[in-house]
Amino acid sequence: MLDKLKEIEKAALESLAVVSDQSALDAWRVANVGRSSPLMQVFAGLGKLSKEEKPVVGAAANQVKIVLEAALEEKSQAVKNAMLAKSLAEEKLDVTLPGREVNIGRLHPSTQQLRRVLSILAEMGFQVYTSREVESDEMNFQMLNFAPHHPAREMQDSFYIDVDPSAGSGSREDNPILMRTHTSPGQIRAMREASANNPQNPPPIRIALPGMCYRYEQITARSEIQFNQVEGLAVGEGITFADLKGTLTDFARRMFGHDARVRFRASYFPFTEPSAEVDVECFVCGGKGCQVCKNSGWLEILGSGMVHPNVLQNGGYDPKRYTGFAFGMGTERQLMLRNKITDIRYFWGNDVRFLDQF
Ligand code: PHE
Repeated sequence: MLDKLKEIEKAALESLAVVSDQSALDAWRVANVGRSSPLMQVFAGLGKLSKEEKPVVGAAANQVKIVLEAALEEKSQAVKNAMLAKSLAEEKLDVTLPGREVNIGRLHPSTQQLRRVLSILAEMGFQVYTSREVESDEMNFQMLNFAPHHPAREMQDSFYIDVDPSAGSGSREDNPILMRTHTSPGQIRAMREASANNPQNPPPIRIALPGMCYRYEQITARSEIQFNQVEGLAVGEGITFADLKGTLTDFARRMFGHDARVRFRASYFPFTEPSAEVDVECFVCGGKGCQVCKNSGWLEILGSGMVHPNVLQNGGYDPKRYTGFAFGMGTERQLMLRNKITDIRYFWGNDVRFLDQF
């Protein structure tokens, strides 16, 4: 019996020596110290031995069990260490490598500029009114005092939207659908909305209309087929050209700096009379003349004028009682001036290297 135990121990230790992974180790455990292992059989057979043999064999079997369990524990540690070493070698992690930069999203530069303009106008009492980007010819032109074949339409070549003629859209020919060429049609919509609620006594209006406009143009460094505008409109009793000048001078100073000089140049728009374009003194050269201002010392920033009586009428405001002023500015243009951006195509080019700078 004692020889058998010696053999069991020897065989078990030999087979343990070649175990090198966890599953082989588990199998070894079952085979050598498990319930039906030869060693456990010896324990089970102790009862059949004589009184003299029992303590001797029992002690020897216990000794073997202690040896095997110690060997198992040691092997188990060795296997764990080997696995750890292996995974460390395979999944090598170089903690000295620089981290990957997390890209934080942000607002498009145009949106940032739109918000700058709107927040200045908000301080001056102008409320935001958003109007639609797809317009009718009637709103975009006719209600703004552009006659059907008025040459001023050529200032704003348009994207017309094809309407299926079989859809029976009757008057589409006189009133086609187009992408708005400026934010000015929002003037009519805002005035109509306000005057519809109170036709006898429509309320005064002071609004800022932001948004994308579209023109059918050759895309060049200076012109794009889409751009943002912000329109301003103030309508009420007793509003004069002096209010227009004061408001726009104040706006230009808040936008371009408190000592910015401003000038008004007579101009023409069908929907304002009189009309004026507003220039600020070139903030690149301080008025001395440079490339940005093409040596004039001035930069044009917006178009403006007193709302034409026909336009007031179309909005539901009696032009005998009410007057108003309006202005419109391109926000990409302002950004180009501010940041000396030489090509307007950067704005919609989706080049992250450009966008990253804002
Ligand atoms: N809508 C004009 C344009 O796009 C700008 C403008 C707005 C001029 C309001 C006068 C009054 O050129």
